[in-house]
Amino acid sequence: MVTPWDARTYDVSSAPQQAWATDVLARVQNVPPDATVLDVGCGTGRVTESLLAIVPRGHVLAFDASEDMVALARDRLGDRAEVWCQDVLDLDLINRVDVIVSTAALHWVTDHDRMWVRLADALRPGGILEVQCGGEGNIARVRGVIDTVARDSFPELVGFSPWVFASPRDTERRLHAAGFNGIRCWLEGRPTYPQDIGPFVRTSILAAHLARLAEDRREPFAAAVVAGVRPPLDYVRLNVSAHA
Ligand SMILES: C[S@@+](CC[C@H](N)C(=O)[O-])C[C@H]1O[C@@H](n2cnc3c(N)ncnc32)[C@H](O)[C@@H]1O
Repeated sequence: MVTPWDARTYDVSSAPQQAWATDVLARVQNVPPDATVLDVGCGTGRVTESLLAIVPRGHVLAFDASEDMVALARDRLGDRAEVWCQDVLDLDLINRVDVIVSTAALHWVTDHDRMWVRLADALRPGGILEVQCGGEGNIARVRGVIDTVARDSFPELVGFSPWVFASPRDTERRLHAAGFNGIRCWLEGRPTYPQDIGPFVRTSILAAHLARLAEDRREPFAAAVVAGVRPPLDYVRLNVSAHA
């Protein structure tokens, strides 16, 4: 099931994700200005827009599994980037790209073995991969609150998790098996104080949980989780640098 995203709320509440993305953008700052860059899980296209300035004579491609996210990204980017809707697990590009970037997205993908193979196939030999997503230990305290609320009153969510928060070691193994070289994976704690915690938790954390609940149970669940979490939210990012 594709997680439905509230793209408009994400767009105005994703300051933390945009702040984390600046580190990844810095890592691709020196790619050739005529490179073709692919943004995987582009959301509403804010990071994609920053990539345009890095490759002023190149091309920016971007895709996302959520139609609502893609619609907003297209509104933002117009004909400055090619944006389409698809699941990364089905990625099969005709022309390989020079650079792949992904921010705050890949922990939502359920099959990491397949995902890294699809990304390796999309990159030309020598091409660059720069990724940041949720990693091992990510939002452990928040997940504890979610589990408690589920156990207490929402049995249909007990044991449910939409995320893969992989370790550097497992990710290095997967990238190696997918054929990447020069692999570097590391975790980074990013304690986070969202400006407006209610919309942030509902949209950026609970999207998949809420989609699994009957409509009349969504708000009681979200309200109970929001009431239980205390900033800073204990974000841990998995960073990945490699080349094909
Ligand atoms: C938190 S948003 C990040 C968006 C953007 N990269 C940013 O940093 O603002 C996560 C995005 O990953 C996308 N996503 C999740 N699973 C995906 C998949 N299997 N294939 C493509 N995109 C996916 C979601 O639809 C969502 O737009």
